[in-house]
Amino acid sequence: MEQTVLLKGGYVVLPEETFTASIRIKGEVIEAIGDLVPLVDEKVIDCEGCYFLPGGIETHTHLQLESMGTVTADDFATGTRAALAGGTTTVIDFATQFHGETMARGLERWHEKADGNCAIDYGFHMAMTEWNEHLKEEMGDVVRGGVTSFKMYMAYRNNMMVQEDEIYEALEESHRLGATIGFHCENGLLIDVLVRRERELGHLSPFYHQLTRPAELEEEAIVRLEAVNHLVHANHHVVHLSTAKGLAAIKRARERGNKIIVETCPQYLLLDGSRYGTPSDDNFESAKFIMSPPLRERRDQEALWQGLAAGDIQFVGTDHCSFNFKGQKEMGKDDFTKIPNGAPGIELRLHLLYTFGVARGRMDINRFSTITSTNAAKYFGLFPRKGILMNGSDADIVVFDPNVEWTVTSDLLHENCDYTPYEGFDLKGKVRDVFLRGRHKVASGKIVIEDVDGQYLRRDLPAMDIR
Ligand code: URP
Ligand code: ZN
Ligand code: ZN
Repeated sequence: MEQTVLLKGGYVVLPEETFTASIRIKGEVIEAIGDLVPLVDEKVIDCEGCYFLPGGIETHTHLQLESMGTVTADDFATGTRAALAGGTTTVIDFATQFHGETMARGLERWHEKADGNCAIDYGFHMAMTEWNEHLKEEMGDVVRGGVTSFKMYMAYRNNMMVQEDEIYEALEESHRLGATIGFHCENGLLIDVLVRRERELGHLSPFYHQLTRPAELEEEAIVRLEAVNHLVHANHHVVHLSTAKGLAAIKRARERGNKIIVETCPQYLLLDGSRYGTPSDDNFESAKFIMSPPLRERRDQEALWQGLAAGDIQFVGTDHCSFNFKGQKEMGKDDFTKIPNGAPGIELRLHLLYTFGVARGRMDINRFSTITSTNAAKYFGLFPRKGILMNGSDADIVVFDPNVEWTVTSDLLHENCDYTPYEGFDLKGKVRDVFLRGRHKVASGKIVIEDVDGQYLRRDLPAMDIR
C-alpha cells in the first residue's frame, strides 16, 4: 500500500474558516483533513502551533527575460527554487510574443527556458505586443492549449505598447473564447514626452524615473481601458496596480457595471518613492528600486492595503524581474532610462504579506491565504487542483510557523540577485515546510529536495466570482 504522511495538529486555513486538524497526504494529493489517528508505520510530522496554508500561487514573474540589452538575473531554475523556499508552489510567468512573431513561437521559446528546470509547478500567460488577424486566429489554439490568460502593455512604446483599437479587438476575441487579458496600465505616449523633457534638462539620475511615470498616467490608462471594455464586457484584470487614483478609477468603472479583477504587488504595499532619494542625490543605490510602474506614496500604500482587505483587489503577485545591482542596474549609471526596469521579490511574498498584513492586523489569515493562493487558482483556471486544502487537491502545502522572528538580508535568500529591496525588514513568521504534490521539498526552513520536478500546468478558463 502507498505510504502516507500525516501532518499532525496544525491550524488548517480555508477561505472562510480556520480550525485545528491534521492532514494526511497520499501520493501527490491530500487524502483527508480532520481529527486523524496515525496509521501503523505512517510518517508523522508534528505541526502544533503552525498554520497549514495552500501552496502560494505567484501570478506575475519575468524569469530569464531579455530586456534592455540584458537578461534577468533569475532564470527558471533559480527563480522557482527561491519561490519554493518562500512557500510558493505554482508560478505563472509571462511568455512573450515579440513583434512579427506568432504566439506559438513565443510559447515554444518559454517552454525551452522552463521545461525541466523548475522546482515548482508552472504555467504561462501570453503577452501580446501587437494585434493582427493572425494573432486573432491563433488565440483559440493558445487557449485550448491551456494558456487562458493574456497580457497587453499600455506602456513601452515601440516594442510592447498596444493602443485602443488593438485592445478592443483583442478583448472581443478573448471574450468570445472565455479567456482573460491582464493590462499594464500606464500612458506610454506621455511617458515618452516626460522622459524627453527630463533628459533635455540634463536630469539623468534615478530620481527622475518616478517623475516620468506619475500616478495620473496609471489612472488615465485605467479609465481608457475601462471605456474600451465597457463596449465589450470581457474578462480582464489590471496587473501590478500601484496607486490610490488607479484603484478609485477601478471602483468607479465597477459602479458603471465593468467587472475588473486586480493584482497588486508587495513593493507597492511596502516601499515608497522616498527610495529614489532627492534631485540632488547622487546615490545610485536608488537604481535598485527602478521599476515600472515606479514606487508611489504612503497614501497609495494605505489605499492598496485597504483594497486588499475589502475585496477590491483580489491577489498579489510580485512582478519578480531581477537584475543585479553590479553590472546590470549599473548600465544606467549616467542615464536613468538605461537602468533595466524591475526588482526581485518572488521569495518574500508570503512572508511580507503575513508580517505586514496579518501580524499588523490589516487582514486575517483567511484573507491572506485567499489573496496569496485561492483567488489566483480560481482566476487562472487551476482550482480546485491548486489553491485550497481539500481532499483530492494537490498536496501543495505550506507549514507556516507564526512565532519565528527574523530579519531579511539578501544572503539569506535563494534569489539569484545581489540585493533585495527588503533588506533589513523585520519579519514575523516563517515558512517551515513546503510540500509540492506531496513531496517534502522544504523541511525546517531548508530546501531538502533539489529536484527540478515542477510540472507544466495547462489551465482552465477563468472563474470571475472572486473577491
Ligand atoms: O519594471 C518592471 N515591472 N518590469 C517588468 C515588466 C512589467 O511591466 O511588468
Ligand atoms: Zn507590466
Ligand atoms: Zn511584469
